[in-house]
Amino acid sequence: MAAQEEDRDTAALDYPIVVGEELLGAIAGFVRGRVAPCLVLCDADANVVKLARQIAAAAGSKRVLPFVLGESRKRMATLERVLDAMHEADAERETLVLGVGGGVASDLFGLAAATYMRGVAYAHVATSLVAMVDAAIGGKTGVNLRGGKNLCGVFRDPAAVFCEVAALATLPDRALREGLAEVVKAGVIEGGELFENLETLSPHPFSRWPWVEVIRAAIRVKAAAVAEDPLESGARARLNLGHTFAHAVERASRYRVAHGTAVAIGLRAAGELALRTGRFSEREHLRVLALLALFGLPLQTAVDPDAIFAAMRADKKRRGGQLRFVLPRAIGDVEYGVTCSARTVRAVVARLGRPP
Ligand SMILES: NC(=O)c1ccc[n+]([C@@H]2O[C@H](COP(=O)([O-])OP(=O)(O)OC[C@H]3O[C@@H](n4cnc5c(N)ncnc54)[C@H](O)[C@@H]3O)[C@@H](O)[C@H]2O)c1
Ligand SMILES: [Zn+2]
Repeated sequence: MAAQEEDRDTAALDYPIVVGEELLGAIAGFVRGRVAPCLVLCDADANVVKLARQIAAAAGSKRVLPFVLGESRKRMATLERVLDAMHEADAERETLVLGVGGGVASDLFGLAAATYMRGVAYAHVATSLVAMVDAAIGGKTGVNLRGGKNLCGVFRDPAAVFCEVAALATLPDRALREGLAEVVKAGVIEGGELFENLETLSPHPFSRWPWVEVIRAAIRVKAAAVAEDPLESGARARLNLGHTFAHAVERASRYRVAHGTAVAIGLRAAGELALRTGRFSEREHLRVLALLALFGLPLQTAVDPDAIFAAMRADKKRRGGQLRFVLPRAIGDVEYGVTCSARTVRAVVARLGRPP
């Protein structure tokens, strides 16, 4: 299948990223090529477990360890449980750990593999859109601490990433839309064909979308930014478009607002801040809002604007007194490291409870 032949179309990174439907054969080939024991860790969702068992059977692995995950379980206690289970399953230095699941699985299992016996090889089979276009790509792993999201983790590249597009058929609609917020973000960063294709696709039911193409295009945006700046000291920051606001909305809501939803609101806020500071045109801003709305993503939030602003200030304190934004100058041209006056930021946040 063409989808598998082109596994290097994201060649900006040093590991294969395979995007396609029915990847069992490709995954089994990769595992067998390593002539090492393989241990499969997966999210405990029934559909994901079923896929993980098929993968294990195809790859000749006897062990599948399912874990109940979710954002509230992406923390140290679960990490310890995973590490203990790996040990009980006789994982050794040469073991290849194969994680199956969404973004929580890739962050958590990736960190477990990076730290077990000071690091064993890890490959991820992404089953959610967020994991395919974002979480599983780029080598960031982590868990949350009481004080905030992803505060503990390491950068460590996977040995391979497989985006099993067929898995999207069972992904809840809400989770799919969460992923689309990140795809729209990639579209605003990249512009051109990616953004226009999303506009063309938006009226069609998800079942008719050319997902392999869409996912590949979004991965290319992420992979290019990561390749340029793997440890996020500069250019990778542009992937944080909308995220300064989004993280504040998530924190202020005590994580009741999911990440993708917060990203949609953050994209609106970044657009408005860019508009107010004379960077962005109203016409393009409205195009971005229209696309988010067509994907059923919310553009406003009931979270108290004062709490959002306070969360942003707390973030600013931690980052040495400067709050930096990624702002669009045009669809396809974003600027990072932008500082803005607190008054202007506050004015933007104050409006987030109302329609744009
Ligand atoms: N490391 C990074 O660079 C990075 C980037 C973006 C997001 N993330 C992280 O990713 C996480 C969000 O990822 P997510 O949205 O995939 O959440 P998730 O992993 O919790 O998955 C969402 C839900 O879908 C279920 N699920 C997954 N695949 C399924 C399938 N094929 N069929 C049915 N159900 C399925 C899961 O059980 C879960 O209930 C956050 O913790 C975020 O911080 C990390
Ligand atoms: Zn994000």
